Amino acid sequence: MPATPKEPSLPSRERVFSGMRPTGRLHLGHLLGALPNWVRLQDDYDCIYCVADLHALTTRYDNVAGMKEDGIEMVADWIAVGIDPERSIIFRQSEVKAHSELALLLGMLTPVSWLTRSPSYKEMVAELGERVATFGFLGYPVLQTADVILYKASRVPVGEDQLSHLELAREIVRRFNSIYSPVFPAPQAILTETPRLLGLDGRKMSKSYGNTIDIAEDPESVRKKVMSMFTDPARQRLKDPGHPDKCNVFSYHHFFEAPAAELDEIDRGCRAATIGCTGCKQRLAGRILAVLDPIRERREELMAAPGRIEALLEDGRRRALAIATEVFGETCQAIGI
Ligand code: TRP
Ligand code: SF4
Repeated sequence: MPATPKEPSLPSRERVFSGMRPTGRLHLGHLLGALPNWVRLQDDYDCIYCVADLHALTTRYDNVAGMKEDGIEMVADWIAVGIDPERSIIFRQSEVKAHSELALLLGMLTPVSWLTRSPSYKEMVAELGERVATFGFLGYPVLQTADVILYKASRVPVGEDQLSHLELAREIVRRFNSIYSPVFPAPQAILTETPRLLGLDGRKMSKSYGNTIDIAEDPESVRKKVMSMFTDPARQRLKDPGHPDKCNVFSYHHFFEAPAAELDEIDRGCRAATIGCTGCKQRLAGRILAVLDPIRERREELMAAPGRIEALLEDGRRRALAIATEVFGETCQAIGI
């Protein structure tokens, strides 16, 4: 007689899963974007944060030098800003093999047409060309689905660019649950409000444009970069009145939470040409450093202990593996393999 299938187990507390590809040091965009959400969610959920090195390989397969170090630098930033490795699980995707196995199994039931119609797939192939027209890259959202459901996570904090992946994840889950048995909860996105923080040059902030300030940037370099920021082009000389609404420096003051009275004072001073851009930027540098200094100190402490991050990742790997093994077992049982 076949064994009666066990009821699929549900986690006692809702789980959050998210990940980032190891791109090295994180910048101010992350500091004001994804990370505050990740930190906050730790209070209400069991959180699992993943160094998505397999996802990185989908575009970086021919440029793998330094990928491990990039992961370590990124994790150092996570912890320095308040991701707590005791409460949350921090681990490397490639070290829990069931991510790959589950992705393969989900691939069996995922129509290719769902993947080729994905907007980010089309965009990336248009941008990066044949180099990313691979089987692995096409399967990117399948692997991402496996990441999340391998922990029965129901909540996924992501930026807007990832919403289509999450929608696909829900469709794959629906299909799995209806073909086999309802093993997985449908994951829900928690949308990260991405602040409209532009790069230093006023273009979209991106490491590849070299227009970012790292979270762990040294103070001298932060000052230099801020002093080089683009301002309102109408203000060539001190006596030219400016338009703070057209000035990136002003919006940085805003995003770094200058008190309303100070914003108002800068606004009026700029329009009346009674304050200068140099002073305005010096104030901004001070404001940014007041936020970055304590983070950088925590990070330096972490990095000073050799092997500390690696040890934390090992602990995370063990805790992730325990959950993944159980859920993957249920998955195989549902399929009958
Ligand atoms: N694709 C995500 C990004 O580029 C990273 C990622 C990998 C992820 N696995 C995930 C995000 C699972 C959320 C859930 O930002
Ligand atoms: Fe921008 Fe400040 Fe200069 Fe005005 S004074 S243009 S807000 S940097």
